[in-house]
Amino acid sequence: MREKNLLLYLEHFCKKFEVYLQLWSTNSDFPSKLINSISYINNSGGKRIRPFMVCETANLFDVNFKNSIAAAVSIEMLHTYSLIHDDLPSMDDDDYRRGRKTLHNKYDEAIAILTGDSLLTESFSLLARNYGKKNPKMCANLILHLAKSSGGAGLVGGQILDLYPKSKTLKDMSKMQFMKTGELISCSSAFGAILGNTSKQDYNNMTFFGDKIGRAFQITDDLLDLSGDLKVLGKKTKKDKEQGKLTLLDFKGVDKAKIIAQDYIQEAIESLLKYGKKAKTLIDLSNYIITRIR
Ligand code: IPE
Ligand code: IPE
Ligand code: MG
Ligand code: MG
Ligand code: MG
Repeated sequence: MREKNLLLYLEHFCKKFEVYLQLWSTNSDFPSKLINSISYINNSGGKRIRPFMVCETANLFDVNFKNSIAAAVSIEMLHTYSLIHDDLPSMDDDDYRRGRKTLHNKYDEAIAILTGDSLLTESFSLLARNYGKKNPKMCANLILHLAKSSGGAGLVGGQILDLYPKSKTLKDMSKMQFMKTGELISCSSAFGAILGNTSKQDYNNMTFFGDKIGRAFQITDDLLDLSGDLKVLGKKTKKDKEQGKLTLLDFKGVDKAKIIAQDYIQEAIESLLKYGKKAKTLIDLSNYIITRIR
């Protein structure tokens, strides 16, 4: 029941969110080819977990939707770019994403690369435009945080290590996974604290929460790659093994990996308890991260 309510609430959020996503990720000065490719990927229906986390964590600190939405859109734009590039023939070489053709498959590789480039670049511009005048210090903080989470020591570095692993150890594999996926998810909840101008303690708590969610999220992604339903998932399954990608499943097996993900979620939920009733949605979201089937 709680999951059903969460999914209804998430769906409601997505409807509102997607209006802003489309509005802010395109601009009438863009070539129409670019507007079309961005619109195609925007309309493909992602789960919107990261922007939801931004708005819900911001809400813990009394920041309303109107004031958190630009930060939420910015993170989703950056995430979308990372998916487009992740699917390229030179990376994971995937033909389907979110149940539709990947961008390079629908258009061509140049369009896919450049659409990703535009989303990445404009995600930072969106933060500057929306928060720069109102609160320059907070704005700089958001920009720096997003850059750190998505750059060489974060998502991009993680993607490099995914393609060219440093070693075959559990430690290096876990580090790579946290960099490629966990950093941006952790940035989403840290954004809530930054928008709320919270104490250092709340900021650390939100970073901790996102860290645990991020780790559990990638384990679930790997479990779904192994045994998810292609039609529900919207992307090809059993690719990790096929491409020789090491995941936690190789080290621990399916059952233990599920327990580890569950433990991360438990820790994430415990970090929310001090926020009382206000954290209910985030607690439900935490549980959903490991029960999701897409
Ligand atoms: C998939 O992310 C890529 C990973 C970081 C594991 P999501 O599962 O959040 O993808 P969408 O946005 O819902 O399609
Ligand atoms: C992707 O990890 C991480 C990103 C930064 C996009 P995966 O390669 O496992 O994601 P999927 O399975 O293609 O969505
Ligand atoms: Mg990949
Ligand atoms: Mg991939
Ligand atoms: Mg995967």
